[in-house]
Amino acid sequence: MHDMNPSDIQGDFREKTLKYYDGSQRKVLVTDIETPYPEGKLIVSRTDTNGNITHCNRSFVDMSGYDEAEIIGQPHALLRHPDMPAAAFEGLWKTVQDGNKWHGYVKNLRKDGGYYWVYATVIPNVRNGQVVGYTSVRRKPSKQKVEEAISIYTNMS
Ligand SMILES: Cc1cc2nc3c(=O)[nH]c(=O)nc-3n(C[C@H](O)[C@H](O)[C@H](O)COP(=O)(O)O)c2cc1C
Repeated sequence: MHDMNPSDIQGDFREKTLKYYDGSQRKVLVTDIETPYPEGKLIVSRTDTNGNITHCNRSFVDMSGYDEAEIIGQPHALLRHPDMPAAAFEGLWKTVQDGNKWHGYVKNLRKDGGYYWVYATVIPNVRNGQVVGYTSVRRKPSKQKVEEAISIYTNMS
């Protein structure tokens, strides 16, 4: 994943360094601009077993701010926001690798430095008894649940 590019950012931004689970790092540029969840839409993506994106729908593309060609093949951590604690994703991975469904609230980072909150359900895709990848379907989170997630995540990180 590349560092984020100042010319892609809308508005005043801060620079942060994200450290990923595999030890790699990336500079991200973040603003305080929220994009509201699109009413009545599901944001859907599929990954391979390593979390690299293999498919995504139109709402996913629109909300991320990237072109589809910039998304496919990239690690899902492309959307990781620095306000999300690593432990939240460790729980996600442990749950789905054990073959179970994971639910949670996620703050995602857009290409333009802004963010959006989702309520995500991640399930393992099983074929012939083998996990062959994962699907995440996201819905609009309630304001109250987002407030709760903000306070939990602030205390976790
Ligand atoms: C199906 C699926 C969907 C995911 N969706 C997101 C997402 O929307 N945003 C995000 O930051 N991480 C998402 N993740 C988790 C990332 O793979 C990754 O664990 C996370 O961004 C933290 O990065 P790191 O594990 O490289 O440290 C998803 C994982 C899976 C399997």
